[in-house]
Amino acid sequence: MSLSSKDLTLGYGDYIVLKDINVTIPKNKITILVGSNGCGKSTLLKTMARLLKPMSGKVFLGNVNIFEKSSKEIAKELAILTQSPTAPSDLTVFNLIKQGRYPYQSWFSQWSKEDEKIVNYALEKTGLTHIQHKKISDLSGGQKQRVWIAMTLAQQTDTILLDEPTNHLDIKYKIEVLDLLRSLNQYEQRTIVIVLHDINLACRYADHIIAIKDGKVYGEGEPKEIITEGLIKDVFGINSKIIECPLFKTPMCITYQNLDMISC
Ligand SMILES: Nc1ncnc2c1ncn2[C@@H]1O[C@H](COP(=O)(O)OP(=O)(O)OP(=O)(O)O)[C@@H](O)[C@H]1O
Ligand SMILES: [Mg+2]
Repeated sequence: MSLSSKDLTLGYGDYIVLKDINVTIPKNKITILVGSNGCGKSTLLKTMARLLKPMSGKVFLGNVNIFEKSSKEIAKELAILTQSPTAPSDLTVFNLIKQGRYPYQSWFSQWSKEDEKIVNYALEKTGLTHIQHKKISDLSGGQKQRVWIAMTLAQQTDTILLDEPTNHLDIKYKIEVLDLLRSLNQYEQRTIVIVLHDINLACRYADHIIAIKDGKVYGEGEPKEIITEGLIKDVFGINSKIIECPLFKTPMCITYQNLDMISC
């Protein structure tokens, strides 16, 4: 089922962050949201996952307005990793990931062998099996981030939304997490939406980029189509030179304030 928004206006109190947003997230693809700090990426992502109510407009999953369904019903279709998740620190890795199975639990269907299998799959996919009994409070920032990703995996949804999932990760794990998301997309046909600040990684991993600026969608499309020096200047307010990445052939952006600073 594809996720889309219709005339979505979002904000807090009477402060409008985004106005009349109409986006369709391409199914079975990786979409990456980019834009400067405070432009509304997290606000949009949370609303698309039913965590925030819009001021006006709708979010559709297939033909269904997600605000007309229960959060548990939507949680079987769509998982979200928010920007700064928090968990009780005495919880173990296994027990936090286990919470991803919550939408499937009820008084007549308790914890099953299948749930156990899925949590083990999530542990394995994120390389956490060996520390599954550790407490969350005893983990590094990057390990914690992988536990949250594992929890969204355990939810076994077709669509996964992740707000800056590579936060706190070193260069190796950053690539591992993005490769993991790509493999979920390619081999399990999951639709993935990621908020990412690194424009070069966005170009490498995205099928579709949505750039946000001044409360609106500034542009969207394939990285090669839309990532230009003009977009980087308008959206981020910085000069750049776009070249082709020698390895992946995707756009690669070299940013600078002032070339006069360089002595060469
Ligand atoms: N709970 C809130 N109450 C009031 N204003 C908020 C709240 N959350 C966010 N905002 C404001 O809404 C705007 C958009 O915030 P949002 O978190 O969506 O930005 P963002 O694009 O995700 O930024 P970043 O890249 O820094 O994560 C900002 O001006 C922010 O100050
Ligand atoms: Mg944010």
